[in-house]
Amino acid sequence: MTQLLIPFPFPFVFLFCCTLAAAQSPAAAPALSVPATVAASPAPTGPPSVISILKKDGRFGLFIKLLQTTKVADNLESQLLDSSNGLTVFAPTDSAFSNLKTGTLNSFTDEQKTELVQFHVLTSHISPLQFQTASNPLRTQAGGSTELLAMNVTAFGSVVNITTGETNTSVSNTIFDDNQLAVYQVDKVLLPMRFYVPLPPPPPPSPSPKKLSPKASPVYVAPVDSAAEKCLSIAIYATACFMLVMAAFP
Ligand SMILES: *[C@@H]1O[C@H](CO)[C@@H](O)[C@H](O)[C@H]1NC(C)=O
Ligand SMILES: *[C@@H]1O[C@H](CO)[C@@H](O)[C@H](O)[C@H]1NC(C)=O
Ligand SMILES: *[C@@H]1O[C@H](CO)[C@@H](O)[C@H](O)[C@H]1NC(C)=O
Repeated sequence: MTQLLIPFPFPFVFLFCCTLAAAQSPAAAPALSVPATVAASPAPTGPPSVISILKKDGRFGLFIKLLQTTKVADNLESQLLDSSNGLTVFAPTDSAFSNLKTGTLNSFTDEQKTELVQFHVLTSHISPLQFQTASNPLRTQAGGSTELLAMNVTAFGSVVNITTGETNTSVSNTIFDDNQLAVYQVDKVLLPMRFYVPLPPPPPPSPSPKKLSPKASPVYVAPVDSAAEKCLSIAIYATACFMLVMAAFP
């Protein structure tokens, strides 16, 4: 009778362990249902949205994408609310971007892309007429004070020429103007000279991002491990008990 019982406990213990492990490991699986977050529809009042204005036109897809990825767009509405100076945006068309030398945009760092977008936004509203009396260089969000980030305009009649030292073009069209926000179409991407002229002082060391925070081992590993450990100890305990019983009753 005892001999018949010998092979029983081992499969039983392992079956039990497997059930234990199986029951524990999928516990961490997250529920698939994602709470539906519905984007709030824009309030009917408040400052106009540059993105909406450009989207409505349909020729500024790349500039919209840049405004969004660099997060420059995030601040435009609050800036319009906070400042009585307004804003002016020079929006390059999609063909302006495709006329850049191949790989130009990809050669820019994320910082340069942000600076490029900021360079297309003036810190005050300038109406078409005011271009004739605007004092150069214009102030852009990229910082208009340094010579290498200068943007100058010369206007005669309805022709408004823009030069950055790197790009010469003119304002092609007024997309939007409400005396607070002006959005103009330009057919060239306005490239700051700073991107092409080496700076005299070495660039400041970029703050090292905290990349080294140790990544926790994947969450699903832990329960499996502890289940396996539990399994092992149960198996050892069961085996020991069984040995004792076997030794006591040969
Ligand atoms: C604007 O640029 C065009 C072409 O470069 C030039 O012929 C014209 O004289 C310029 N106008 C002004 C007001 O600078
Ligand atoms: C812009 O205008 C300022 C002031 O007239 C001048 O010093 C600067 O050289 C000009 N820069 C460009 C790129 O035309
Ligand atoms: C821009 O125009 C100025 C004067 O009109 C000229 O001296 C300069 O070479 C032009 N720059 C480019 C990049 O075309």
